[in-house]
Amino acid sequence: MSYLQAIHKETNAALVSLKAHAQTEGVPIITDETARFLSQLIDLKDVKMFLEIGCAVAYNAIALAIKHPELKIITIERDPTMIEAAKTNIKAFGLESRITLIEGDALEVDETTLPVMDMIFIDAAKAQNIKFFEKFEKCLKPRGIIATDNVLFHDMHTKTIRSRNLKQLIRKIDAFNQYIMKRKEYHSVIHPLGDGLCLSIKQ
Ligand SMILES: C[S@@+](CC[C@H](N)C(=O)[O-])C[C@H]1O[C@@H](n2cnc3c(N)ncnc32)[C@H](O)[C@@H]1O
Repeated sequence: MSYLQAIHKETNAALVSLKAHAQTEGVPIITDETARFLSQLIDLKDVKMFLEIGCAVAYNAIALAIKHPELKIITIERDPTMIEAAKTNIKAFGLESRITLIEGDALEVDETTLPVMDMIFIDAAKAQNIKFFEKFEKCLKPRGIIATDNVLFHDMHTKTIRSRNLKQLIRKIDAFNQYIMKRKEYHSVIHPLGDGLCLSIKQ
């Protein structure tokens, strides 16, 4: 266990077990340092409504809901296996009244039916980041934050890649990073946290 892990040791046994289970099953979940950073932002900005694109087994949604008792979360997932696991987990933690799971492709959700969001976390198909951003920014309040995960993609932007699919994915992630820096209505910074977290604050 690293020093950071030890000093920030999670004491909720059920949450520790949920994380271990997700990791054993190979479910990609938020890194600890990114989770801690989001959690502090939620405190700093007094976030009450949080939208997550990409729920997986609801690990992050559950962890945030436990740490922030006034937080309401809407999370979207399209994979049927993940949806079933997420539903089971949300129920097991008794968080059905605070975490709403929308089942289906985020790009097909009618964003006009969503409440105004204080913060949005984009953590789904990485090639679609611009589409997610443009669709869900409509729900963001002024001075709200959009956090987009994995924008450094294992530091691959600087490496020589042979796989055509991977090259295309990296090009798309780079296109998002270039795009977001040109969106002057947002103050965006890429933080080298986890796999790279882009924070965009609406001006
Ligand atoms: C990295 S995982 C999410 C992890 C979760 N945020 C956590 O930290 O606990 C990404 C998830 O996004 C889902 N996903 C990808 N594209 C999606 C889309 N267009 N609509 C809904 N879900 C999507 C995948 O099925 C996958 O479960």
